[in-house]
Amino acid sequence: MTSYDLILRGGACVLPWGVETTDVGVREGRIAALGDLRLDKAANEVDCRGLHVLPGLIDAHVHLRDPGDPAVEDLSHGTKGALLGGLTAVFDMPNTAPSITDRERLDWKRGYLEGRAWVDVGLYVGASKKNIAELAALELQPNVCAVKVFAGSSTGDLLVEDDASLEAVMRSGRRRICYHSEDEYRLQERKPQFTSGMPHRNHMVWRDVECAFLGTRRLMALARRTGRPAHILHVSTAEELDYLKEFRDVATVEVLLNHLTQTDEAYDRLGGYAVMNPPIRDERHLRAAWAAVADGTVDVVGSDHAPHSRAAKERPWPDCAAGLTGVQTIVPLMLDHVSAGRLSLSRLADLMCAGPARVYGVTGKGRLAAGYDADFTLVDMKKQRVIEESWIVSPCGWTPFAGHRCTGWPVMAILRGAVAMREDEVIGAPRGQGVAFQEARGG
Ligand code: DOR
Repeated sequence: MTSYDLILRGGACVLPWGVETTDVGVREGRIAALGDLRLDKAANEVDCRGLHVLPGLIDAHVHLRDPGDPAVEDLSHGTKGALLGGLTAVFDMPNTAPSITDRERLDWKRGYLEGRAWVDVGLYVGASKKNIAELAALELQPNVCAVKVFAGSSTGDLLVEDDASLEAVMRSGRRRICYHSEDEYRLQERKPQFTSGMPHRNHMVWRDVECAFLGTRRLMALARRTGRPAHILHVSTAEELDYLKEFRDVATVEVLLNHLTQTDEAYDRLGGYAVMNPPIRDERHLRAAWAAVADGTVDVVGSDHAPHSRAAKERPWPDCAAGLTGVQTIVPLMLDHVSAGRLSLSRLADLMCAGPARVYGVTGKGRLAAGYDADFTLVDMKKQRVIEESWIVSPCGWTPFAGHRCTGWPVMAILRGAVAMREDEVIGAPRGQGVAFQEARGG
């Protein structure tokens, strides 16, 4: 008989090689055994019969706004929402106030998350025209998931829009760079055509397909020239998804839950609460996004959780803030897509565990395998539940998905061997740590 700290008994485990009903033994925060553990015992046992056991799900694209305005969001609330929503790790964007663009702020953030984070956290470093020379060193700091470049402007003041500066960024360092890809020149050139108070659906007319496509075409030319790997965040057009298939030597692809779930009818229903960058578009692009999930073009699905105050969302377009909350709702909504037959649970684990691990070079997370961190998301695919605004933990207090009935719900999350969330309750204290990455070890 072998003893473990924890045994998950009899769940349908989403393993890298398929779904198998098996036991999982955990020791010292890591997966110690997969298989039939009937003769073994543990201090803590979880009966997983009737549930699916996924590797801890990762949302690689969140804006936790810390430092910023705690009345809207902060790291503590954002990660608590993540945990209640079934995630065990998030990667946090750098366009805070002030932005995370130097060693001092990065070190501050790493220390700050201890004792506050409810899930593990990877940290982005923001590129600006002033810190290009430092990026090569910054991307190697512990817990850094990637450099983030805003090649088109969005929330905050980070922007690197011209080819010469973008090329200089690509030549500073070697890890995969994450891009917000919209062509800034086209954005600015067309802005005067739109005036305050116009209907919200003009958001997708201003930030049109051409704007996204031009941005991505320029980035791909530069990525090929420099050989620097690129991760194109929130790809939102059929045209880019088609184009990016030709650039798999340098590019990986993220698609957002929103672009897989919402179409332009949302502008009429939700007004400012449908405004995000890049925009929600028409049905043709949603269909292309699902086709790209089906054919493997998409590496990662994220939420782009981007809270703003209700007052900022309710200003007339185009003055309303762009960005939608999502860290707490991405897992239930993706499970609902699984229930509707749009993808399998194995593909979900690929998009939210193995995909982020591969794209960002995570060590020790992203698959159910011996030696990996004992991070698990347990889901009940029979459970039906309606997303309610009162459930949302982010202080801004709203979700564009209020009223959405989901089939499939995360019922437990285990972080490095300890049950951290069970049936809508967080357990214990915030135990989140910085996520480890292969190429970020300090120095
Ligand atoms: O809609 C968005 N909101 N897109 C972004 O790129 C940034 C984000 C934010 O930080 O508000």
